[in-house]
Amino acid sequence: MIDSSIIAIDGFASTGKSTLAKMLAKHYKYRYVDSGAMYRGITYAALHNKWMTSEGLEESKLLEGLKSINLNFEAIANSLLLNGINVSKEIRTLEVSNNVSKIATLPLVRDFLVKQQREMGKRKKIVMDGRDIGSVVFPDAAHKFFFTAHPEVRAKRRLEELKLGDPSVDFDSVLKNLIQRDTMDSQREVAPLKIAKNAIEIDVSDLSVSEVFTLLTEKIES
Ligand code: CDP
Repeated sequence: MIDSSIIAIDGFASTGKSTLAKMLAKHYKYRYVDSGAMYRGITYAALHNKWMTSEGLEESKLLEGLKSINLNFEAIANSLLLNGINVSKEIRTLEVSNNVSKIATLPLVRDFLVKQQREMGKRKKIVMDGRDIGSVVFPDAAHKFFFTAHPEVRAKRRLEELKLGDPSVDFDSVLKNLIQRDTMDSQREVAPLKIAKNAIEIDVSDLSVSEVFTLLTEKIES
């Protein structure tokens, strides 16, 4: 067993972070938070309310709009509530995926969300996954992991998930989206995707979910 602490899982898009974070949370009876869902929630709101259109993003509208946004991540149902409305399906579309990394570069959005994430971490006993959890949100987390995997393996896995909701999605658009997000997430100025100090890097390309789970619990308990 581990004492009450914080487990941070960061890494590239679609490497299975959320699946493993959920399993660890269940195993240790911790709270699970998907920080990516929060960035997706803001992106969905920005598209839905036309703060962001094909013409571009209106930062002043977004700034104003954030004041009326209340996000709630419900770990048990794994759902995201945006002002009380369940938008869990809407935030997983390719449209949101194609715009989320742009929204995530904005310091005003990151400040807004990081504050909420740190608040959630105050009671410890939390597993959070994302891009900057071990590096920025909880630099003192007791356990930090960084997942990588070959892009084709990741696109194949994500395609299977997306196909359940939309059979017309194709492999190439999914792969293109993952690569674009990886690039934008790694190159942005604020809180870029990178291996946090003291994080353990794991290439999950050739590992099954249960193999990764065993590896993580061994590391956590060693
Ligand atoms: O699940 P997947 O790997 O597709 O990504 P996600 O965790 O849902 O995150 C979606 C996007 O949100 C990422 O590509 C990042 O642009 C952004 N994000 C971030 O900037 N910081 C985080 N802590 C989590 C997500």
